[in-house]
Amino acid sequence: MIAMSHKKENYKRPLVLGVETSCDETAAAIVASDKTILANRVLSQIEEHRPYGGVVPEIAARSHIDHLPRLIEEALQDAGLAIEDIDAIAATTGPGLIGGLLVGVTMAKAMAFAAEKPFLAINHLEGHALSARLTDDLDFPYLLLLVSGGHCQLLAVSKPGRYKRLGTTIDDAIGEAFDKAAKLLGLGYPGGPAIEKAAKEGEAARFPLPRPLLGTAHCNFSFSGLKTALMRSFEKTGPDDIPHLAAAFQAAIGDCLVDRTERAMTAYEASKEDMATHRTLVVAGGVAANEYLRSRLRELCEEKEYTLSVPPGWLCADNAAMIAWAGVERLRTGFPSDPDSAPRARWPLDESSRPVYGSGRKGAKA
Ligand code: KG4
Ligand code: ZN
Repeated sequence: MIAMSHKKENYKRPLVLGVETSCDETAAAIVASDKTILANRVLSQIEEHRPYGGVVPEIAARSHIDHLPRLIEEALQDAGLAIEDIDAIAATTGPGLIGGLLVGVTMAKAMAFAAEKPFLAINHLEGHALSARLTDDLDFPYLLLLVSGGHCQLLAVSKPGRYKRLGTTIDDAIGEAFDKAAKLLGLGYPGGPAIEKAAKEGEAARFPLPRPLLGTAHCNFSFSGLKTALMRSFEKTGPDDIPHLAAAFQAAIGDCLVDRTERAMTAYEASKEDMATHRTLVVAGGVAANEYLRSRLRELCEEKEYTLSVPPGWLCADNAAMIAWAGVERLRTGFPSDPDSAPRARWPLDESSRPVYGSGRKGAKA
């Protein structure tokens, strides 16, 4: 749980209360227009899901019900404010687990209605996409690599509400791939940090794993073949090889990220005149916490003369400060109150994007 202090009244309006319940973090935060974070409460449910090796939607939804009201109260206390002092209430309305979304959206709407404040329906991916602007002095446009438990996408970001998807995963999300690989290797949950830790003791070159879609003309990702290859190697090895397998898996993912991002840089620069001159790569989402992947992307940015912007770890993982901040950005661009919007399990940031393969599938959780 994170609590932040502030100097009372030393901020600029609007003040937005943000609520996040799309997956396994219950969170409430209050953010001002000048980027002051007046409160930032995050409660992780990791321990509740750990015995199952992944997030159990029903447990997540019930846990949000148990904790969200208290977290909102604590956020208001941290900020020294009453709900009447808030200018708008923003809640993650999708994409995510529908039970959890319903809890957060219903609570936020009820509070907005009772306090006669605008309700802002925020796309969780937009929260991640704009998060770097909360901590960095970052102008639009920029290229975004969104790497989380539910997503792996490359997007050209023009302004709030304006995103062009350049690439996405055609099967597993990147964090999901880390989590499944860790489960296979018996490293526990959540898998990303466990693989990163184990990989520090291993030699990647011991196991040649494939690099799916490397060098292809588009900017899409694929991770399921890599997971299967890891499984095949694992079947032929002993426990001593686990750090080597973890290192080989992480190195393969690193190569894929660098190759796909490099391709997306070319597509981004060709998209619009101002994109050719605004050479900034923002990396967001829980997987951005991975130091090895960050260092690989830092090398790429140096080579391509891009500025790399990665939000701090607490802002990369799911939180409500990024939802409140997206609310601030939306209010500034005249985004209307949306009391009728319903939670959406799937909600692509780029509404014009089409499924990459097949007819019914819209990509990993987006
Ligand atoms: O963004 P996030 O907190 O939640 C979603 O919106 O999905 O991302 C969680 C994901 C999990 O799959 C977790 O294993 C992964 O981020 N992750 C990592 C690391 N830390 C968290 N993956 C790789 N390396 C890490 N250090
Ligand atoms: Zn997320």
